[in-house]
Amino acid sequence: MTAYEIAPPRAVKRRVHELPKLADPNAPLLVVDNLTTTFSLEGASVSAVAGVSFRLNDGEALGIAGESGCGKTTTALSLIRLLPPNGRITAGSVSFHGTDLVTKSELALLRYRWREISIVFQGAMNALNPVRRVGEQIAEPIELRLGETREASGRRARELLELVGIPGQRAQAYPHELSGGMRQRAMIAMALACDPKIVIGDEPTTALDVMVQAQILELLERLRRDLGLALILITHDLSVIAETCERTMVMYAGRVAEEGPVRRIFTAPRHPYTAKLLSAFPNIHADRRTLDTIPGLPPDLREPPTGCRFHPRCPVAMAVCKDVVPPEVVFPDGVRVACHLHPAGTNGGIVATMESIAARRSGMASAPVSEGTAAAAMGAPGTPTT
Ligand SMILES: Nc1ncnc2c1ncn2[C@@H]1O[C@H](COP(=O)(O)OP(=O)(O)OP(=O)(O)O)[C@@H](O)[C@H]1O
Ligand code: SF4
Ligand SMILES: [Mg+2]
Repeated sequence: MTAYEIAPPRAVKRRVHELPKLADPNAPLLVVDNLTTTFSLEGASVSAVAGVSFRLNDGEALGIAGESGCGKTTTALSLIRLLPPNGRITAGSVSFHGTDLVTKSELALLRYRWREISIVFQGAMNALNPVRRVGEQIAEPIELRLGETREASGRRARELLELVGIPGQRAQAYPHELSGGMRQRAMIAMALACDPKIVIGDEPTTALDVMVQAQILELLERLRRDLGLALILITHDLSVIAETCERTMVMYAGRVAEEGPVRRIFTAPRHPYTAKLLSAFPNIHADRRTLDTIPGLPPDLREPPTGCRFHPRCPVAMAVCKDVVPPEVVFPDGVRVACHLHPAGTNGGIVATMESIAARRSGMASAPVSEGTAAAAMGAPGTPTT
């Protein structure tokens, strides 16, 4: 672990279920390597996720950020292959405790979906079936996937509701009888139903008022601590990532722009897109006039820009940026950046591979990197913080 990484909280209660037979408990929890997902449209294909790699350790929280349409949801759905019918993973691997989920049959994948990796969908609180009681909806996956009796599943559903702060007797309620915040809690209970190791929250607090948002985030944090969950939190709200996650991954147009320990990235972003995203984010302590915007729009992914996909909007783009895809470079402090401003060889950066990412994350090289932030490259007087 590098000096910039924060240890995930220690679990109070580990889960009771065994890992799948083929899983290696000594292998990393999740290693996503070169994940590539495309959607086919009439006469075109959308390059929604283009070679995304990352690693998630046991009990860790990773925040995924980026503008609308940059591929956050598609990345999440690809992990458990819940893509819409026109979506397909065309390359890469998603390795859960050493087992590649991309090559598994649909039937074999059932052992992993919900039981090992579950997801709270974007806009999920409106996805509850309006004509079925909330408790029944939570109990169903327990009965179907874990093979519990109806009675035991109902009991567990009530326990899960209590766990997320809803009195067990509200299991009898229909979704319209619950507030928005309670419905979102019920969706979280449903995601926890099969005792997964990883929970993905896709914008779990969007559309909730700030007080309820804070309560839901607190709940996720408590569950992570108590149950030892690993969390992938997708959000537009950088302050949520700053408060909740140890690491963050900033995506742009289907690719990783920058990834690493939250504190490093938010205080000294190296990718111009990260710097722009941070300075466009309202900061309660800052002068409102300092709020920035990112000129232009994210590209149409049916025809993404050549070279660096950010080059048409980048304030410091160079000639090479238009033609050459910037390689991902990993630095001694565990930050990974894909930008020609930071070629391999500067500040101890080496070309990122799954091995070099793992080595740098485990602290084999922990010298701090102090130069070459994107803010400095863009001539900014200071680096924004959330
Ligand atoms: N079923 C689909 N068919 C075609 N294109 C799609 C489909 N689903 C998503 N896309 C495209 O894939 C790209 C990535 O979309 P995705 O939903 O993953 O973005 P996102 O980062 O989650 O955005 P948001 O923040 O708005 O939720 C976008 O260009 C989107 O238009
Ligand atoms: S590679 Fe070039 S265009 Fe892309 S972010 Fe870096 S400087 Fe800007
Ligand atoms: Mg999304």
